[in-house]
Amino acid sequence: MRVGVFDSGLGGLTVLNKALELLPEEKFLYYADVDHVPYGEKTREQVVEYVDGAVDYMINNGCKAIVIACNTATSAGVQYLREKYDFIPIIGIEPAVKPAVLYLSKGKRVLVVATPITVKGEKLKKLIETYDENNIVDTIALSELVNFAEKGIFDKDIIVPYLHEELKEYNPDDYGVLVLGCTHFPFFKDSFGIVMPGVSIIDGSTGSASYLKVRMEEEGLLATDEDAQEGERVIFVESGRVVTEKYELEKIDKLCKRWRELN
Ligand code: DGL
Repeated sequence: MRVGVFDSGLGGLTVLNKALELLPEEKFLYYADVDHVPYGEKTREQVVEYVDGAVDYMINNGCKAIVIACNTATSAGVQYLREKYDFIPIIGIEPAVKPAVLYLSKGKRVLVVATPITVKGEKLKKLIETYDENNIVDTIALSELVNFAEKGIFDKDIIVPYLHEELKEYNPDDYGVLVLGCTHFPFFKDSFGIVMPGVSIIDGSTGSASYLKVRMEEEGLLATDEDAQEGERVIFVESGRVVTEKYELEKIDKLCKRWRELN
């Protein structure tokens, strides 16, 4: 059986790559809902409907645990999914506000960047209320980065001016940490580093992949020798269609390489 990793598009590859490192014996099914990306601009109800369909697909195709590697879908629907599919571990991802505030802010402010749904959502508000006793956390929605990533646009000449414009009210000297609260954003770490020099940049992929490992150990779900025999390490699925075209697989491979170079 496989571990399902879900995202609206290719952003969840950042979590998949961490999970591949932490769980070397496991096989994965990566589900990108390319027909509906970007989620950040949709209604909450639409996002829940889409991710519900994807989780149903992953369970019907033999997944034993699922990671919702999308902050937006986690914010909109993880509660609903855990209640509906209560027979399988469903791990979400949320902006890494806790480590940013508690351990990494160096007496400065914390800036959380995410999609509009995540920024407006109750889940992030509650998370910030829990840890931000001194009101040091600011949030801002960045809506274009998901589109850039899906189109394969990472050119600093395009991304840096976009970020400069969006973040012009945030003086890097005031900030200790930048929290990337969308799984597509780590692909732009180099440009964020130019626009916010001297600021530590973190994301939730390690936390999410580590928690997946813990849950799988607890639930006795780690791969058996039999699992190890079967098929390729990762199967890629786009909105219910198994990816077989060389061009698509190369695009995924290129993104994974980019992530490894930046991390
Ligand atoms: N990778 C998703 C996230 O972490 C992006 C959502 C979108 O499709 O807008 O939020």
